[in-house]
Order: sequence, then C-alpha cells, then structure tokens
Amino acid sequence: MCGIVGAISQRPVAAILLEGLRRLEYRGYDSAGLAVLDANGSLQRLRVLGKVSGLAEALDATPVNGLLGIAHTRWATHGEPSTENAHPHISHDRCAVVHNGIIENHERLRAEQLAAGHRFLSQTDTEVVVHAIHDALAAGQTLTEAVRQTRLHLQGAYALGVIDGQHPDCLVAARQGSPLVIGVGFQEYFIASDVFALLPVTNRFIFLEDGDLAELRVDGLAIWDANGDPVERPVRTSTVAADSAERGPYRHFMQKEIFEQPRAIADTLEGRLASRTVLPEAFGVEAEAILSGTRGVTIVACGTSYHAGLVAKYWIEAVAGLPCQVEVASEYRYRKHVIPDGHLFVTISQSGETADTLAALRLARQGGYTSTLAICNVPESSLVRESDLVLLTHAGPEIGVASTKAFTTQLTALLLLTVNLARHHGLDAEQEAAAVQLLRSLPSQMEQVLSLDARIAELAEQFVDCQHTLFLGRGEQYPIAMEGALKLKEISYIHAEAYPAGELKHGPLALIDEDMPVVAVAPNNALLEKLKSNLEEVRARGGKLFVFADDQVPMQEEAGITVVRLPQTDDLIDPIVFSIPMQLLAYHVAVLKGTDVDQPRNLAKSVTVE
Ligand code: AGP
Repeated sequence: MCGIVGAISQRPVAAILLEGLRRLEYRGYDSAGLAVLDANGSLQRLRVLGKVSGLAEALDATPVNGLLGIAHTRWATHGEPSTENAHPHISHDRCAVVHNGIIENHERLRAEQLAAGHRFLSQTDTEVVVHAIHDALAAGQTLTEAVRQTRLHLQGAYALGVIDGQHPDCLVAARQGSPLVIGVGFQEYFIASDVFALLPVTNRFIFLEDGDLAELRVDGLAIWDANGDPVERPVRTSTVAADSAERGPYRHFMQKEIFEQPRAIADTLEGRLASRTVLPEAFGVEAEAILSGTRGVTIVACGTSYHAGLVAKYWIEAVAGLPCQVEVASEYRYRKHVIPDGHLFVTISQSGETADTLAALRLARQGGYTSTLAICNVPESSLVRESDLVLLTHAGPEIGVASTKAFTTQLTALLLLTVNLARHHGLDAEQEAAAVQLLRSLPSQMEQVLSLDARIAELAEQFVDCQHTLFLGRGEQYPIAMEGALKLKEISYIHAEAYPAGELKHGPLALIDEDMPVVAVAPNNALLEKLKSNLEEVRARGGKLFVFADDQVPMQEEAGITVVRLPQTDDLIDPIVFSIPMQLLAYHVAVLKGTDVDQPRNLAKSVTVE
C-alpha cells in the first residue's frame, strides 16, 4: 500500500525522505516520488515509475535541497502505475500533497474542479485534494485552515501530508481511516505511514487518531481532533530497533522471517505461561471476567490471518467446546448479522491496519458485541487501540509481503486463547499442563522442521514449470493446506488451490493428471486413514503426490509419491509445525522462478484500503 514520509527540520531533508521510502518499500508499491521546498520557497519534485533506487538515482542526477518535504511510494488504485500518477501531486506549482487511501467522491470533485478551470495532470483520485487545498489557499486561508476546509468535502479514507511554497515553515498532516504517525525529534518533526520509516531519525512517536489534523513546525506541534478541538496525544517510545528491518545474512526477508519462527514463538509465549497453566494475565487485567463468561467466539480477519482463524475454529470447538464462527472481513462488513449471545468478537491481523478488518471491528462494536479481542503484531496499531482486549504476537517486524512468522505466532496466540477459554469450560489441570508443555516444546520442534530446508529446496525444482497445484488437508490441516496454496500463488504466481481432501470426488478430481502436482499435509492423526484413501484416488488417476507426513505415518516413497518426513508431534500443535514446510516450499519455488519474493507483483503488505 502507499507509503508516506514527510519532514520539517533545520537540516536538509531529502536523504531522510529517501531513506524513509526505502524502509517503506516492503509495503508494496509501483512508483515513488518526493517534493522538497527550497530556500526560495519553490517546490522541487522528482517522481519515478518503479523502485526507490530509481528515485535515488534521479536525486543523484538532480539534487534537491530544502528543510521541508514530503515523499511517497504509490500502490496504484485509481490510474495505472506511471510517473504522471506518482505522488506528490502539485497544484499551480505552489502546494504539494501525498496521500494514502481512496477519495471515494473524487469523480464529483473532479467534475466540479474541471468546471472551475483546474487542469488535471493525472488519473488519480488524489489530485482533487491538492486542487481543493490550492483553492482554499488562494482564498487567503493558512495551510492548516485550507487542509481543514478541504477535508469537509472529502469522503473516503486518507492519510495526507501537505506542504505549500507560501508556508515554508509548516507541514500539515491529516488522518482519516489510513494510518499516520508523527515522529518527534529535537527541533524537527516527521510524518510516516509507519514507525519503521522513521527509526533512523527518532524512536519517539505520536499515533494520530482518525479525524486528527496536525500542524508541524520546527519549534512545536499542534493537533486538533475530529471535532476541531485542540488535543494532546501521548508521545510513545518505540522499542523496535532501527536495524530490525535489515535482511542480515539472508537472501530475502521472507527467508529470514521463516527462520526467525522459533524465536518469534518463544517471544510470543514469554511471560504468558506458568509451569502448568496459561497465565490469565496474558490477556490483560479485565480479561478473566470476559473470558470466563464467553459462550462462543466470532473471528474475523483477512488472508493469512483468516487462515489462522480457521485453525482456531477447530481448536476452540474441540478443546474448549465452544461454538466458533470465522469469516473474511470483507464479507462480514457488508452483510446483516445475527449477533450470538455471549460471543467474544476476535480480530486477527499482523499489521492491525487492514481496512476491512478494522471496519468489521467497528461494525461489530456498533452492532452490539460487548467484548472484542485483537490478536495483532503491531502494538500501536488502530486495531489494538480500538479493541477491549489485546493479545500481541511478538513476531517482530514482518517485512516480506508473504506472511510467515506472523501466521505461526497468531496460531500460538490462538492456542493460548483456546486453553484459557477451555479452562472455564471443563479443561482439567492435567490437560492444561499437557497443553502448556506442548506450547513450550514449539520452538525446538520448529527448529527441527527448519532443518528440512535443503530437502524442500530440492523438491521445489519439480514445481517450477507447473501451471497449477492442488493442496489437500483434512480437519485442522485443511486451513494449513489453504495457507500453503496462498503462499505458493502469491510469491511464485503458480495457480494453487486448496481443498479438504474429502471433497476431491465432488469435483476437483477432474483436474488430476500427470501435470498437476498434489501437495498433502498428513500428520499421523485420527483422519490419516481417510486422507490416505483420498490420496489413493489421486494416484489412481496419475497425479503426482508430495506428502508432508510425520515419521509415524506408514507411507512409502514410490513412483509418483514423494514423502517428506517431519518429526512426530501432537495433534494440538501439528498445524503450527506443518506450516513451515508449506512456507519453505513456496519460498524455494519462487526463488527458482526468479520472482520478487519479498514484494510480489500487485500485492501490498499492509492493505489499508478496501
Ligand atoms: C499473506 O501472505 C498476505 N500478506 C495477506 O493475505 C495478509 O495476511 C492479509 O492482507 C491480512 O493482513 P493483516 O494480517 O495485516 O491484517
């Protein structure tokens, strides 16, 4: 998604802006640009189609100098990826805007502005914003007033950074539905879409709320809330290290993040387990009253986080004996609901800024859910701030667009939730102690599975030339098959589908031939024999099988069947352990195909628009 950086300082800002954009690259983008106000108050703008490195080259060739500027990485929504559509957008050579989000009423505003004589140079929804600000400035308003006035006409979601040649001493920012933070320096301020962009210059942040308008000057900061009243927002110190977004010795961030999983899970469990119990305090002080009264769970999320929710449904119903429903947020937010009595509403999100998930949470709160829990990886995110209870996954920054450690830490958190709920619904002390022991064993089990890396890299060669793949699983491994298919399609661009293996004969079996590799997730559990029968159906039709099985599964390698052995674990934690080979397979296929593993085409890390 689009990334915003801005700075007002007593030192030149171009390098700060450029480094900020580089650190936002992981969000996904197609073009980049910046605008800096020089000492004469004139705007200097550079924009490129493609990578931030291209913008850096343009900057080398045409240096821009100034103490105030804004910059942007664009992820196209309205108008193709092109230099003309790249931000910042400028009106009448005086004011410049960067925008993340979507202006929903841009067509009507564009028609009005065209009629009033404005000339449009892009196809973006953003350009109406800068022309509206220009008109307010031309009518004699200050920059802050002009942005405030413009907002009255905007519908949709936005984070904005605005500068103007006739206001060389201020940077104005606004937030409505898209994330924006202010970085607090010594006699300098910054804005950005997330804290990573600014970690080299500060670790002190103010997280703007929806509706906020901010005026940044070197000697101070003013913020107004959605009602236009001046507000003080707390300054928080981030504990994220500036180098946490570095790749280290790994070839890709995704690879680094796959290998970080034992540590990420250990960190997620840290402080949440006693020797034989899940600590009730893990969910916050008010949690016990809520969890003990919970009679069911509704989970809403998107993408990989949704898959984590699907696994949790199996756990919550089997272990806690409570009903659990799971839905993708983009569907949930646009239908009428029956709110089940006593249900806890759970959102799952790596970023905590996913527009659909956030909208679903707000809808659930308005609709009557009295208790909400966010399982999230970003402590300062909107989702965390708007939920009653929070269970943070301590995965650390996840930069690769393909979610890996965020997923397994979400599963770990959901298992903590399951055990906690189950304690109030019949799980006895021995059973809880056994679950705690399994949770504790996770990091070392993950290490063992990671040692399959070389074997899976070899196997990946057999997938490189295929057009389609099928992933099969049963029970709680079905969502793991879904996640395996999602990983493969998003980074290798190979079409991948997942099915519960029992559904094969109801349609997908027609697809099977020697060109269709079939991946099966096969731990030694109660459904193994059923799964084996389904795999026989595939073999009988000439399908090529790749089975990920634990070492207790009686299945031999032979022509048409490749078996990858994982160490035996327990049913309860199998979904977490079996996620790793799915991730490694997708990773190695993508590397062999030479795709952009960390920033796959058309995708964004943090989906802050609908
Ligand atoms: C998965 O690899 C994707 N990056 C995507 O499906 C992601 O899980 C989804 O966009 C939800 O993001 P969130 O967890 O930040 O809400």
